Amino acid sequence: MEKLAPAQTGLKGTIKVPGDKSISHRSVMFAAVARGKTMVENFLPGADCLSTIHCFQQMGVPIERDGTRVVIDGKGWDGLAEPETVLDTGNSGTTTRLMLGLLAGRPFHSVIAGDESIAKRPMQRVTKPLCEMGAHIDGRRGGNFTPLSIRGGALQGIEYRLPVASAQVKSALLLAGLQADGTTIVYEPQPTRDHTERMIRAFGGEVRTEGRTISVRGGTVFHGTEIVVPGDISSAAFFMAAASLVPGSEIVLPDVGLNPTRAGIIDVLKQMGADMEVVETHAPSDGEQTGTLVIRPAALQGVEIGGGLIPRLIDEIPIIALLATQAEGRTVIKDAAELKVKETNRIDTVVRELKKLGAHIEATADGMIIEGPCRLSGGTVESHGDHRIGMMLAVASLVAKDAVCLKGAEAIAVSYPQFFDDLKSVL
Ligand code: S3P
Repeated sequence: MEKLAPAQTGLKGTIKVPGDKSISHRSVMFAAVARGKTMVENFLPGADCLSTIHCFQQMGVPIERDGTRVVIDGKGWDGLAEPETVLDTGNSGTTTRLMLGLLAGRPFHSVIAGDESIAKRPMQRVTKPLCEMGAHIDGRRGGNFTPLSIRGGALQGIEYRLPVASAQVKSALLLAGLQADGTTIVYEPQPTRDHTERMIRAFGGEVRTEGRTISVRGGTVFHGTEIVVPGDISSAAFFMAAASLVPGSEIVLPDVGLNPTRAGIIDVLKQMGADMEVVETHAPSDGEQTGTLVIRPAALQGVEIGGGLIPRLIDEIPIIALLATQAEGRTVIKDAAELKVKETNRIDTVVRELKKLGAHIEATADGMIIEGPCRLSGGTVESHGDHRIGMMLAVASLVAKDAVCLKGAEAIAVSYPQFFDDLKSVL
């Protein structure tokens, strides 16, 4: 249990947030099936990405990690060996779903299982199209829940319309399509994060993107390369919020990933009236753009968030909900039913925990409605084992009247192991 005191003064300083979780996972996955060495810099050594590394080590891929630097000695798609034990994906939805796509095309048997939270997350959205492509995947309740058993092999390309906007499902199908006969075409209902597409190009492969249609051909050979992972905008979001809310703050966040498919939080903060500057941007033609963010406090207004914006900020909704409790007027978050199948049901956990601190927040079928501003009280709250709920509540404690006791703070290590050290450094 972490006891957190309200901020006494403004938060000041520079925080280099850790590497992007989505990109760290993909860097190891593509490096593992590429030929030759890949060096990854600024890898996120959070529990989720370490699960990805461990899964590939179980399949015989030599991977050395020294802090945030990882060297992967890939031997191509055929270099993966049948794992002798269950592949443990821990708390990581990205590892579980992308690995399913990758394993669907490998000619061996494997079993994937994760923790209690993973066991509740729907996998049919991935296993169904993968089985249509020719994989044999089975698991609890008709192959919807882990543990999942995969017998991979020859795959046929597929044309598939995603029923939900999900980068994890898209990426799983692309990973399978890269090993399949013919072309695989995926139609997205809304654009989702495109890190997989960028990673395919970085490793020398081809992918076509035309609007919301993405296609790959089978038989792609990847080559090892160098990857520098940008800072994770989803982690930076907690400090953007903290600096916006605590009077007298000024926080500088260098090298944050600003991929437009991820940067919805910046649009929303600006719409709420935040004082935020994006300086020193860097946009490599085929890579991930980055920039330095400078954030100071401002009087915030409520906003309406929905539609195509949701996939661009899906992981930031817990912290947006907290910002909304401190903003003038009503905030409506809709079209976000996907929140129910994240690490926790984030509509429930956000509403329940912020209510404990006195927030005026109500759940709806596909989001939440928040009335602000409201001075939060202290109290005991819990992460429910969800890293982003834990960090959101830690930021809430900064603007609460009294101390906040946070149960389950250890979950934060999933994506941001040094979160409390970084927070202390600016307090
Ligand atoms: C991710 C995609 C999103 C996001 C998750 C990471 C990814 O999930 O919530 O934290 O790396 O592709 P969905 O694809 O389920 O929306």
